[in-house]
Amino acid sequence: MTQASARGGPVTHDVVAAALDRLERAGAGPIDVAMVLGSGLSVLADHLEDPVRVPYREIDGFPQSTVPGHAGNFVVGTLEGRTVGMAQGRFHLYEGYEAREVVLPIRVLHALGARALLVTNAAGSLDRRRPPGTLMAIRDQMNLQFANPLAGSHPTGRTARMMVERTETYDPGLLALLHATALEQTIRLREGVYAGLPGPTYETPAEIRFLKRAGADAVGMSTVGEAIAAASLGMPVAGVSLLTNYAAGLTRRHLTHDEVTRVAERTRHRLERLVRGFVRRLDLRS
Ligand code: HPA
Repeated sequence: MTQASARGGPVTHDVVAAALDRLERAGAGPIDVAMVLGSGLSVLADHLEDPVRVPYREIDGFPQSTVPGHAGNFVVGTLEGRTVGMAQGRFHLYEGYEAREVVLPIRVLHALGARALLVTNAAGSLDRRRPPGTLMAIRDQMNLQFANPLAGSHPTGRTARMMVERTETYDPGLLALLHATALEQTIRLREGVYAGLPGPTYETPAEIRFLKRAGADAVGMSTVGEAIAAASLGMPVAGVSLLTNYAAGLTRRHLTHDEVTRVAERTRHRLERLVRGFVRRLDLRS
């Protein structure tokens, strides 16, 4: 019988176990690297060799992606000689999910054996010198969603390790590797702080001025909970934002989700080259 959590719904570890079971039955073996693919970027999963695909809807108790541009599958396959598990489509608080549901794909990919996580997202740029199409490695983040995936039930069902003793959410070694890969591939890669807001509305110009003063370089509605969950599991995290637009107030243009996915689609080839180089160079011995 499925136990209910404090807020109702199946507890996390049952859902993770169901996902693992379904993936293993589909033939997905242990993975080296985990990835989460954001808006307009999910096509990367179609480039895996020998892919095993499991739709989220085939997993008991698993949430479903409801956002255009976000597919809803786990895809496990080979990329640059490494076994990669991808969450093709992510969940957001603004879809009505709890923070702990948003991070279910992270927990599943970790349970599959991933020793590193790369998160990608589409984000708004707070810097006029970083136009749409810019790639930004995430150095640090601000969780302004005021929801934390570690609150409440714990995947093991035991007492949660509530306080994660880490200064760095994003692994400095993986950040350096992103830069080294970009250099090798002659891809321009900037670096900065990602602010995660709850959405679903885009920000106001006043909010963007506030975020800029607070030290944010990019703004989006995802990623922060995923990075917290991964760090708490001891899985090193790297993040890349594809800046798809100037944030509100930096231009007069009105921002739409269509524009975000269009720019992401135009730029994703560069991101794919970066991701491939990163995966190839990743040292998984430790
Ligand atoms: N704001 C929030 N989320 C986003 C944006 C933005 O400007 N662009 C892409 N995702």
